[in-house]
Amino acid sequence: MSHIPFNVPHIGERELDYIRQAVKNRHLSGNGPFTAKCHARLRQSLNAEKVLLTHSCTAALEMAAILAEVRAGDEVIMPSFTFVSTANAFVLRGATPVFVDIREDTCNLDESLIEAAVTPRTKAIVVVHYAGVACHMERILDIARRRGLIVIEDAAQGLRSTYRGRPLGSLGDLAAVSFHETKNIISGEGGALIVNNARWVPRSELIWEKGTNRTQFHRGEVDKYTWVDIGSSYLPSEISAAVLLAQLEATDAITTGRLQAWQRYHAAFESWERKGIVRRPVIPEDCSHNGHLYYLLFPDASCRSAVQSFMREHNIDAVFHYVPLHSSPAGRRFGRTPAPLPVTDRTADRLLRLPLWAGMVDREIDTVIDSVVHAIVEVHSE
Ligand SMILES: Cc1ncc(COP(=O)(O)O)c(C=O)c1O
Repeated sequence: MSHIPFNVPHIGERELDYIRQAVKNRHLSGNGPFTAKCHARLRQSLNAEKVLLTHSCTAALEMAAILAEVRAGDEVIMPSFTFVSTANAFVLRGATPVFVDIREDTCNLDESLIEAAVTPRTKAIVVVHYAGVACHMERILDIARRRGLIVIEDAAQGLRSTYRGRPLGSLGDLAAVSFHETKNIISGEGGALIVNNARWVPRSELIWEKGTNRTQFHRGEVDKYTWVDIGSSYLPSEISAAVLLAQLEATDAITTGRLQAWQRYHAAFESWERKGIVRRPVIPEDCSHNGHLYYLLFPDASCRSAVQSFMREHNIDAVFHYVPLHSSPAGRRFGRTPAPLPVTDRTADRLLRLPLWAGMVDREIDTVIDSVVHAIVEVHSE
């Protein structure tokens, strides 16, 4: 029985060619020619004021928190059903994450609950586009405009998805994407900060380069560089940027490959959804998605665990997602949960992500499908 992993990174020959080129360039630190090419591509595809590669999405979120001038005593509204970095970036600035429940259908922040969580201390709303499917941005942007709040998109999983024809990462004031190995487009560890609000462009470069004006110095705008602001070392090396450039050039092929696998799963589980045995992902009409992940929701935690164990016994890796932050030790210590989060709790208990990668062949997908179906039959016959 051959092993089916959860993820297989898509790597082509071009990644190796570009790494070789980066080494030959004798420019291995950050902000070299490969970084510039990645910036230009991302800026164009996202229609952004500024894009800065970072060594992770976590770093990009930390930069966003600094740029948004989030401070001690501020509150930041966000889902609890997310990765730790969504909250940690703001806790590092002394702010309090305020956890709000998610929608049943998309597992995204429930826009109808946001206003009740706003207080005079609220500074920003952080949206997470779960599985690369957009939040209800029209409502969220409207709330932010009326309440004077900054919108930050955690688009870690969202590259190449759209909302009403606009790319995720282009909708908030600031956005962060991830190029971690588990994402669609990868550079090992990597990410990018997207600046959509022009007023933050000059400062973003300073924070990126350890609080110095080194980028201006490289452009010949100042005759020496010096310490002018807070910041850190957020830029990735040229080797990472070389890998990323090759990946960005292959975005169409990678996305198409993932979507093919996604569709095959979706078609196979339709009848099981009709019988009320599983729930499949919901893609709202005004969203297109990037096939980042395929998940199923089972009726309860024990059913999910039974299916996961069955798959593990058959050498197939399927994984749950997110211990809700509001119930984690650090989330309880640093965050605030003004109202119960029943949908978050229920979703975290019942969700299982299936193996998916670009280039996954039909035989592998069908093996996973068969395994889920066998597990369901076994659970229901008990
Ligand atoms: C929603 C979300 N935000 C942030 C991150 C962190 O990304 P990175 O590993 O690039 O720091 C992840 C990683 O999985 C994520 O899923």
